[in-house]
Amino acid sequence: MGTQRPNEETSGTGRRALLGAAVLGAGGAVLGMTGTARADSARRGGQGGHGGLKSLPKPTIVGHRGASGYRPEHTFGSYQLALDMGADIVEAGDLVPTKDGHLVCRHEPEIGGTTDVADHPEFADRKKTKLLDGVSTTGWFAEDFTLAELKTLRASERIPANRPHNTLYNGRWEIPTFEEVLKWQDEQTRKRGKQVWIYPELKHPTYFRKQGLPLEERVAKLLRKYRKDRRTSPVVLQSFEPTSIERLNKLVDNPLVVLLSSADTRPWDFVETGDPRTVADLVKPAGLREIASYAQGIGPTLDLIIPRDAKGNLTQPTTLVADAHKVGLVLHPWTLRNENPFLPANFRKGTDADAYGDVFGAYKAYFATGIDGVFTDQPDTGVLAREDFVSG
Ligand code: G3P
Ligand code: CA
Repeated sequence: MGTQRPNEETSGTGRRALLGAAVLGAGGAVLGMTGTARADSARRGGQGGHGGLKSLPKPTIVGHRGASGYRPEHTFGSYQLALDMGADIVEAGDLVPTKDGHLVCRHEPEIGGTTDVADHPEFADRKKTKLLDGVSTTGWFAEDFTLAELKTLRASERIPANRPHNTLYNGRWEIPTFEEVLKWQDEQTRKRGKQVWIYPELKHPTYFRKQGLPLEERVAKLLRKYRKDRRTSPVVLQSFEPTSIERLNKLVDNPLVVLLSSADTRPWDFVETGDPRTVADLVKPAGLREIASYAQGIGPTLDLIIPRDAKGNLTQPTTLVADAHKVGLVLHPWTLRNENPFLPANFRKGTDADAYGDVFGAYKAYFATGIDGVFTDQPDTGVLAREDFVSG
């Protein structure tokens, strides 16, 4: 089985030791920076970051696809709100290429679920069925559109059943490019007087490389252009394909994170190259040691941190946090969401698909394992949960 997953999964150490030099709280400043240093950083725009990945507040709150619990994902409306809510780092964006080779921010190649492309009769004949990492997928694909064509579309809410209020914003924002994101990062850093961090993910690198649209070189070229390709640059790169991260490791010096889906899955690059290992192999000490030779962190699904039982209730934590820390890897699992269907069963309240469960209880359980951060669709909730955790 590859890493292709449904679009939306329904799915410590002493807490004070986690704090390090972190400055915590909503809108918390860049770690350990004086006012003058912050102003300097802001002036330098994208060259900030200084202490690298480990200088981020802990547990780090990552705005997943922005603040996608409140706005259509991967839009500047969503990214902006994530910063306003105090996210330490914004997942801007998940990256896919256009037909003419530009990188744009969409969660996956298929754009029918997050844009109004179906309402554009001029693109009706672009609807196709493709094999995407072994899964037959029907819709409209970013790689079949030029950037100019994609820019005529508008973003919409992916999961209106869970987030009916977000549909208010359908049609408001266009699809951002990665280059626009890099400029936005610098603008926001200057405007806010604190370094803004981003956490882009390379989507389906093998799939795109086979189509003559490799991602890694394009990402590296843009990072170099904006001088954000350094170990201390405030840009963390992530991918579900370990070989893509290894490739990036040769191209840039940015902090790198290998994403890990459920234990029984196999990264798609492994499927294509005949590497028999599954995620269950990668989370063993030998697998983690190998990852640590080219990456600084892992992004496991939350179930690898605390598995759920057959009823969906949390069980006991695995040794993954301790094992990863032993080889120097940080852990940023995904994804905490406030709504019932995405929470472990024992943290749900009622059965409404758009109602919030006891997400603070879930945060408490996950933070207690010693994770270094977490991806969340609702960064404001994450920031409050961290405050609770830190204050004991
Ligand atoms: O990148 C962390 C998390 O976003 C991985 O899941 O599918 O939402 O990109 P996905
Ligand atoms: Ca992602």
